[in-house]
Amino acid sequence: MSFQLSNKRILLGISGGIAAYKTADWTRALRQDGAVVTVMMTESAQRFITPLTLAALSGNKVHTSMFAIADDERLPHIALGRDCDLILLAPATANTIARLAHGLTDDLVSAVVLAAQAKVLICPAMNGVMYRHPATTHNIARLKEYGYTVIPPACGELACGDQGPGRLAEWETVRQEIIAAITPQDLQGKKIMVSAGPTWEALDPVCLLTNRASGKMGYALAAAARRRGAEVIMVSGPSSITPPFGVKVVSVVSAREMHAAIRQWATAMDVIIMAAAVSDYRPSRYEPHKIKKGVTDTSLPLTANPDILRELGEQKKDTRCAPLLVGFAAESLDHLEEGRRKLTDKKLDLIAINDIKAEDAGFAGDNNRVTLLDCHGTVEEMPLLSKEEVAHRILNAILRQL
Ligand code: CTP
Repeated sequence: MSFQLSNKRILLGISGGIAAYKTADWTRALRQDGAVVTVMMTESAQRFITPLTLAALSGNKVHTSMFAIADDERLPHIALGRDCDLILLAPATANTIARLAHGLTDDLVSAVVLAAQAKVLICPAMNGVMYRHPATTHNIARLKEYGYTVIPPACGELACGDQGPGRLAEWETVRQEIIAAITPQDLQGKKIMVSAGPTWEALDPVCLLTNRASGKMGYALAAAARRRGAEVIMVSGPSSITPPFGVKVVSVVSAREMHAAIRQWATAMDVIIMAAAVSDYRPSRYEPHKIKKGVTDTSLPLTANPDILRELGEQKKDTRCAPLLVGFAAESLDHLEEGRRKLTDKKLDLIAINDIKAEDAGFAGDNNRVTLLDCHGTVEEMPLLSKEEVAHRILNAILRQL
């Protein structure tokens, strides 16, 4: 279940290409994400996959004809386009694309698209030669001019045996585009920097001081902010997570590298979110060769790292248009009091506190249980939520303050 797709009404328009069979899986996946799916099909699409299959998978009547209606008042080509949040055309064949590019309405699918005001996502799929033909290229360019989003086909082996572009795009790419299309662009024009992950403080070429942060919360914040239209820079400590689409990633290792990267971009930002678990200390001395067993002095002298967020808070009073500062506090004891103290001490606008002792939430998991405190004294206690949803709630709180 995705809270972003939950109860969203998706109108899936299928035209007649071999990739039509894949839309059966897409319909299931959309319903598993909580979306309400209605299917419309061209006549040739019904030769590749039956309306019965899609009716069973979508749980809704499948629309195939402009005139087969029970209710004369509700012309399907008007009603279908009006009653949905998004139209997804997949596969869109060369013929359907040509029809749409020229405003033809001689079948239900193209008539619905012409009459609709909802966002339209088009997934072309066809033979590679047809796809590269100037006629198709021009038609696709025209669809983009009309404001439709065209998700390019993937490259690879095609059903006809050829290699090249023309394969229906991968579901995960399409799913992300659907979410982006229905997500309000309420952070458009904002520049947001997010720090994420742990830092590594090397002791010798083998050993280091670090912590259990996975980076998941910071990466979720960067992805969510980007989806809501912000320009996002993520300064990330070592993490194995794939960087979110459209986010500029600056990879760092140590706290001092993170400090330098953040300082470089800080003044240009509207918001800085410090989700990274920055090591407070580093070994005072770096041994260029591996420390061997049997050393006599086993104590480990440490030097304090810069407190990046505190420094940003200090600088805030000097500048009029300082970025909004958001901190995180991972606490195992007195978490609210500690969070409140850090909010004031570091001169933050907002702090997200998590109780790291809670068994159902924490570093490597996909869920988090967060309490948000802002500088006006507002407290928002969240239930256990996915890190993605926590990210959106934190962004909502940021938006209220911006
Ligand atoms: N932080 C930072 N630089 C540091 C340490 C922490 O910018 N050297 C930021 C973290 O990214 C987080 C916030 O400060 O947003 C609070 O971090 P936390 O580790 O909870 O608190 P500390 O200030 O380090 O205090 P303590 O470790 O004593 O709890």
